Amino acid sequence: MKILVIGGGGREHAVAKALAKNVAVEKIWVAPGNGGTACFCENVDIAATDIKRILAFCLENRPDFVVVTPDDPLAMGMVDLLEENDIPCFGPTKAAARLEWSKHYAKEFMRKYGIPTADYHLCEDGKAAKAYAKKCPVPVVVKADGLAQGKGVIVALTREEAVAAQAQLSYGKSDQPMLFETMLSGPEVSVLCFTDGKTIIPMPAAQDHKRAYDGDKGPNTGGMGAYSPVSVYTKEIADRCMNEIFLPTIRGMEQEGTPFKGILYFSLMLTSDGPKVIEYNARFGDPETQVVLPLLNSDLLNIMIAIRAGKLDKAKVKFLDSCAACVVMSSEGYPSAYEKGKVITGLEEAEKYGIIYHAGTQKRPDGTFVTSGGRVLCVSSLGRSLRQALRNCYRGVELIKFEGAFYRKDIGSKDASLIREE
Ligand code: AMP
Ligand code: GLY
Repeated sequence: MKILVIGGGGREHAVAKALAKNVAVEKIWVAPGNGGTACFCENVDIAATDIKRILAFCLENRPDFVVVTPDDPLAMGMVDLLEENDIPCFGPTKAAARLEWSKHYAKEFMRKYGIPTADYHLCEDGKAAKAYAKKCPVPVVVKADGLAQGKGVIVALTREEAVAAQAQLSYGKSDQPMLFETMLSGPEVSVLCFTDGKTIIPMPAAQDHKRAYDGDKGPNTGGMGAYSPVSVYTKEIADRCMNEIFLPTIRGMEQEGTPFKGILYFSLMLTSDGPKVIEYNARFGDPETQVVLPLLNSDLLNIMIAIRAGKLDKAKVKFLDSCAACVVMSSEGYPSAYEKGKVITGLEEAEKYGIIYHAGTQKRPDGTFVTSGGRVLCVSSLGRSLRQALRNCYRGVELIKFEGAFYRKDIGSKDASLIREE
């Protein structure tokens, strides 16, 4: 089989690597890919959002299966377009991916189907939002509708902060719809699920670390590290999530006439009042994928093919009874401006301790790698305990060098299993 993976981050490296394990796979293209995928796939120099050129590439090269991973092409309807052209594709349709690309739609959907989430108030335009910010109950969570790559949310503790948040998130657009949500509190977990629209199979829960610096300080990033499973996500909570959130979501989507096939990622907050949905994502998370896929003990391609065929109930989906952790190494300055082109050393030595998933790297003709992005790479390691997984991970990270490299030193450190052991 020939497969095309759309995207170019650490997540896509992890997906391509998992797909490559299937012996039927002869070739993997990745568009646009990165230095890591260049080692075992063929990178195609087309942006993930350039759906016209992706279609043209597919019509010419006829991949047997296309895996669409990032949010933008899903929101643009890449899966619909490719399927209309008889190119078999993994991922939700544009209508199903709306759970991610419209926060307002997701909120209305949850209200309609009784799925627990924070209460909200929608303002259709800037004028209404400005007026509401001045009188809303605080604390309040202000969210711009639409895809914002994690930058569309501000938690405001006072009305002044709410007014400032509304102004900042509307980017001067007078027609920007804005949601104001009740603030929830509790630990956050990401639960990525395989679903064909009828059956839903959760992967082990993961925790992301979004802030740039130790102690959850500094600006929000795409994610600086993750670990899985998460101790606070107990079997009892998992059962509640299945009955109160996961199943009602896929049944609701089916009832709406937009069944969800692909990866449905629930961002949850475990409040004292039970688990609640913070948001839906219609795709694999980054860096959560880099910890959950190494735990998958079944064939990813077979699962994806079963999902597309609506036969997930027949697929084998098993996970290792281990722990996984990953630590992201970034360029100095990230998530603001950073330099590129720094030589990376120590990769081979570090591989003794884990898998290295590249994100912002480029492979040079001499086989060496240089930095080309903010999040450069991550080391992902397994262990019998979380402590052991983290130890392996940091051993690997300490061997990798590039000028200006930085990473968080406290990934996973707040997990209850580690605190209990102390
Ligand atoms: P989102 O883009 O909706 O996932 O929000 C980004 C982050 O904002 C989440 O990971 C939470 O930490 C925080 N957040 C979003 N909604 C709420 C809420 N209703 N209450 C508290 N925190 C929230
Ligand atoms: N880890 C956050 C995301 O993928 O959206």
